[in-house]
Amino acid sequence: MKNDIKSVLYSEEVLAAKVAEIGAKITKDYLGKDLLVIGVLKGANIFLGDLVRKIDLPVQIDFIAASSYGSSTESSGVVRILKDLDYSIEGKNVMIVEDIIDTGLTLHYLLDNFNSRNPASISVCTLLDKPERRKVQIDVAYKGFDIPDEFIVGYGIDYDERYRNLPYIATLKPEVYE
Ligand code: IMP
Ligand code: MG
Repeated sequence: MKNDIKSVLYSEEVLAAKVAEIGAKITKDYLGKDLLVIGVLKGANIFLGDLVRKIDLPVQIDFIAASSYGSSTESSGVVRILKDLDYSIEGKNVMIVEDIIDTGLTLHYLLDNFNSRNPASISVCTLLDKPERRKVQIDVAYKGFDIPDEFIVGYGIDYDERYRNLPYIATLKPEVYE
């Protein structure tokens, strides 16, 4: 697996420091409130697991799994919910946690869908963002890093369901795609 790596973009230590920084900011912003953190499976799982341990608030956790129709690398904007939330979000302060925002189409759909369920508030937290690729505008309240338009893996993020368990974020050698 490690032979497939071209270069490491963010090391385990750099990720841990950034996650702690985001967690501290969320703790400050939501002081005195309860927070429902919703992870978008599967990619956000590892980021969410580390992040919630850096949030010093009463936190609830739920997950949604969504898949976008289209090719494996190009999202179409038509989203299918594979696993819905377990609980109602009505009246709750909701934060959606994503691994990476690319076109923004998946998140745009999820925001519309969640807003129709009448939460008290809703915010977006993503570890990575590819702003060059955006097709719809998304308000991102908490962000780890902006990255260029390059395919990355690790820390929960996959290529063909692999590399999610790498402790760092890395680019892959081109021959891996062949
Ligand atoms: P969007 O609807 O185009 O914003 O899709 C975002 C989703 O595409 C992310 O949650 C990832 O699952 C996937 N994705 C986007 N860029 C990458 C990448 O560089 N590596 C792996 N998955 C990616
Ligand atoms: Mg994803």
